[in-house]
Amino acid sequence: MRRKAVLGLLALGLGVLAQGGFPYPEGFRFWTHVKSMEIKRGHPLYEAFGGLHHIYANPQALAGYLSGKKAFPQGSVIVFDLLEAKEEGNALLEGQRKLIGVMVKDPARYPETGGWGYYAFGPDGKPLAIDAKACHACHQGAANTDFVFSAFRP
Ligand code: HEC
Repeated sequence: MRRKAVLGLLALGLGVLAQGGFPYPEGFRFWTHVKSMEIKRGHPLYEAFGGLHHIYANPQALAGYLSGKKAFPQGSVIVFDLLEAKEEGNALLEGQRKLIGVMVKDPARYPETGGWGYYAFGPDGKPLAIDAKACHACHQGAANTDFVFSAFRP
């Protein structure tokens, strides 16, 4: 009974909340690096996004950042590349990749989440089932910069 309910939720999550498919953003490591940040234990985002992350923008997304984040153009893709962070010999080092989070701008396809599709992929490149509406609910905090929190560091 309980198991059935859980399976039902998962099916709903995959079908409705995952916003349909989006391919793994191959080659994003060759895009423009926007910024980096370490989220440590005790930070409110630690459970979901603890570790060291780097943010990358494709050319359309870079144009959006450089225009002052008023509106990112159609086709913008932003990748949140999350790695383990390890302390070693008084240095902070990159560990294994934990996941990547992806935002894709396509207003006709994603009208309910501010024109952005939200996706995540595991270290093996396979899509993770996520609740795009929950992603967007927090990104509402950046509503006046087209739902993008990070700023480009020249
Ligand atoms: C509780 C708040 C919160 C939730 C939930 C959240 N994010 Fe974010 N996200 C942030 C913050 C804050 C940043 C900025 C991090 C930085 O400046 O380095 C960010 C940055 C990003 C970025 C880079 C673009 C930007 O806005 O700076 C992507 C891509 C991203 N998140 C994807 C996702 C995805 C996909 C999900 C859902 C699986 C998600 N986020 C859920 C708070 C959140």
